[in-house]
Amino acid sequence: MATDSTTTAPIPDPAAADQVENSTAEQDINPWSVTGAQDESGEVAAIDYLNLAKKWNTSLIDEKVLERFERVTGHKPHRWLRRGLFFSHRDFDKILDKYEKGEPFFLYTGRGPSSGSLHLGHTIPLQFTRWLQEVFDVPLVFMLTDDEKALFKDSLTFEEVLHFGMENAKDIIALGYDVKKTFIYSDLKYVGGHMLMNAWEFSKLVTFNQVRGAFGFNESTNIGKIFFPSLQCVAAFGTSYPEIWTDEPMQERSKLIASIPCLIPMGIDQDPYFRLLRDNSSRMKNPSPKPALIHSKFLTALQGPGGKMSSSNPNSAIFMTDTPKQIKTKINKYAFSGGQETLEQHRELGGNPDVDVAYIYLTYFEEDDEKLKSIYDSYKSGELLTGELKKLAVELLQKNVAEFQEKRKEVTDEVLAEFMRPRKLESRATTQVQKLLEEAEAKAKLAVRPKKK
Ligand code: TYM
Repeated sequence: MATDSTTTAPIPDPAAADQVENSTAEQDINPWSVTGAQDESGEVAAIDYLNLAKKWNTSLIDEKVLERFERVTGHKPHRWLRRGLFFSHRDFDKILDKYEKGEPFFLYTGRGPSSGSLHLGHTIPLQFTRWLQEVFDVPLVFMLTDDEKALFKDSLTFEEVLHFGMENAKDIIALGYDVKKTFIYSDLKYVGGHMLMNAWEFSKLVTFNQVRGAFGFNESTNIGKIFFPSLQCVAAFGTSYPEIWTDEPMQERSKLIASIPCLIPMGIDQDPYFRLLRDNSSRMKNPSPKPALIHSKFLTALQGPGGKMSSSNPNSAIFMTDTPKQIKTKINKYAFSGGQETLEQHRELGGNPDVDVAYIYLTYFEEDDEKLKSIYDSYKSGELLTGELKKLAVELLQKNVAEFQEKRKEVTDEVLAEFMRPRKLESRATTQVQKLLEEAEAKAKLAVRPKKK
């Protein structure tokens, strides 16, 4: 097994380190905002992911899942799996079954372009998706929900979000996706044909009561918002993409394509959409299996583990456009510290890495398990000082962002156009689908052949 408990640094568990008693507001996690529970004095506690998984009835990713993943794929689990940062799932085991049997599935994820640049938090599910694509060799469809952002943010126009979407798509490409296996699309430009037909059909199955329950909508909610979840949901149906499976686009929405399972990596805030989908996917004319989901924790806001890094609060986030100096200033000025007030106290009592934002960032970006563990231990013992810990985080993030910016320069308009061109995608899974389609066609021909007298 790849995970070696003697060298793996402890995963920060801020919720355990900071139990809230008599909390007066529960934590609130939804696709548009994320806040930790609040106690009587207004202190915001760390997000309690175990509680969330329990409340939403998701399955935790445990050693058993990781062992099976390694056995089936032959790949060591990604450090974000080993460290519990991707911590929860729905039916991921069924995807492993499919992979083991050599049966096809595909990946779907997305981004709502609310600003012109991604922040470091967005890159977590996106980099992880790229890694899954490499491991499984499957097609990926990538939805840019420009429509969602204009509908949900009064200050944004449809023209602005369309522009942000194109900039974000270049960022996404710079994360290293394989163009042969990846189709990126803007809802405002692509949605029509089979995908729109799926969305209308899906919307016919879902009542206002259901979306109100899932998203807290009310009678004053604009009707665009009420319909939008249909679109984010049907993006998980293979039939929404008539171009990606065969040389010629499919003429009809096919039962066989609808039956191909989908795996959706995401931050856990997106789960409410896909609960709605899982409840209704089998009710479509061409039924689809419940999509499998894999959930990440949020890369915390600079201010601490009670909130997520978010574009709507620029001081909470490190953007992928930030300069080395901006990164240094943000970490030094805003990153919540688990260190003690004075040097003497720190040496005597030690720091608390579990709540320290610089340490938490290291858990995401430091590949070396042993090095991470030694940083954890030496901060906890008081040997490593806050300034020194922050320096380590600054250097690692500066390197990560600078490498990204170099790759981003290579993404020209032509490269972007190719990723966004509806076309057949190439992968092990696509070949498996083609074989299934040919077999189905041969069977259908046999069935219509007149019997010999
Ligand atoms: P958006 O743009 O809010 O976020 C894109 C993806 O990034 C995740 N995310 C984070 N992950 C870790 N740490 C953070 N601080 C952080 N902030 C955001 C989100 O959970 C998401 O996975 N409606 C969606 C777009 C979408 C989508 C999807 C996302 C359409 N289809 C399928 C995931 C899967 C949105 O606005 O994402």
